[in-house]
Amino acid sequence: MSGPRPLPREEALLLGPPQWRHACHALLYAPCPHRLFGKIPLRFAVLMQMRFDGRLGFPGGFVDPQDASLEAGLNRELREELGPGVAFLHVDEGDHVSSHASEKPQRVVAHFYAKRLSLEQLRTIEDHATHAKDHGLEAMGLVRVPLYTLRDGVGGLPAFLNNNFVSIARDQLVHALETLELVPREHLQKAVVAAQKCLCVPSAGTSSSRVL
Ligand code: APR
Ligand code: MG
Repeated sequence: MSGPRPLPREEALLLGPPQWRHACHALLYAPCPHRLFGKIPLRFAVLMQMRFDGRLGFPGGFVDPQDASLEAGLNRELREELGPGVAFLHVDEGDHVSSHASEKPQRVVAHFYAKRLSLEQLRTIEDHATHAKDHGLEAMGLVRVPLYTLRDGVGGLPAFLNNNFVSIARDQLVHALETLELVPREHLQKAVVAAQKCLCVPSAGTSSSRVL
């Protein structure tokens, strides 16, 4: 096997211990009516987190043998990493987006979920995240993903995409932004191309704070 291989959830469940471990991560998002600088529409608030390894990823983690299901493991991990603000949250099988099997550096099946919240619910999670058991340990803080591209063609989503992401988290993000229609397809494609073309040193001055 070369890179991560996509496979249906049912097929993924056939890959069991001790050879395979399963990990589940979730993209939490909410419609957001606010405008940056009073003019650039934010559209949605999308959460990622800085991890203990200095990379960006989604909250979640390894499913334990004691977990009753993948989703039980995911909800446990979300409580550990996001804290009391997710008491109301239950990610279930219907929120499953994709599964990928990787052989290197270790045999892991990565399951990905997406859950739409209200902005108030998302704010509650952000407000409580510093009280999580793992805060400052495995979880170093939540960030929102900028979904716009500034007029310099780099600031915003293209620059964000040039961060260092764990495993396939970047692909999961881009795929989710497209399929959940969080960014218009044309804007997303341009942002991905802009990210590839440059190493994103944002230009100084006012031009970088204007939207395309
Ligand atoms: N998509 C796919 N795979 C991911 C993603 C993602 N978005 N995020 C992380 N992974 C991979 C990681 O590379 C890792 O192999 O899934 C596995 C587990 O995810 P983590 O969130 O890192 O696991 P977690 O249980 O939260 O805690 C990390 O794992 O490596 C150990 O000792 C380390 O205690 C630590 C724990
Ligand atoms: Mg984790």
